[in-house]
Amino acid sequence: MIVRTAVRKAAIAAKLGLVDQTKLVTAASEIARNTLDYGKGGQVTIERVQAAKAGIRLKFEDNGPGIPNIELALTDGWTSGSGMGLGLSGTRRLMDEFHLDSRPGEGTTVTITKWSR
Ligand SMILES: Nc1ncnc2c1ncn2[C@@H]1O[C@H](COP(=O)(O)OP(=O)(O)OP(=O)(O)O)[C@@H](O)[C@H]1O
Ligand SMILES: [Mg+2]
Repeated sequence: MIVRTAVRKAAIAAKLGLVDQTKLVTAASEIARNTLDYGKGGQVTIERVQAAKAGIRLKFEDNGPGIPNIELALTDGWTSGSGMGLGLSGTRRLMDEFHLDSRPGEGTTVTITKWSR
């Protein structure tokens, strides 16, 4: 998947360590998979954040059906399909920041950030 390569490059440029690079690539892969599986496809924005800390922020947006119960979707092991139900919950654990915004009938936006230490 092309997202993995682009995210890896951005993570290296932002001086994330190897472990954090891999966490970010894994998270990106999970969320990108969700936008394809459930969101009818979408777009991803890769942003280099340079504030008090430096890092990478990824924003995944789709115009799919949305998530009716966000709390449930974030529960370990809950899936509406045949997945393992670990994509969102696992991603939240791997990242420094995690935001999920979703409206039924409008779509879903997931924003994740990993800081370099
Ligand atoms: N972009 C999205 N649009 C609509 N629903 C979504 C989206 N992303 C996740 N969901 C819903 O949230 C549920 C949980 O997602 P999560 O990624 O945690 O698990 P999964 O995709 O079902 O399984 P896994 O990722 O472990 O293979 C999904 O089963 C789906 O119902
Ligand atoms: Mg998933």
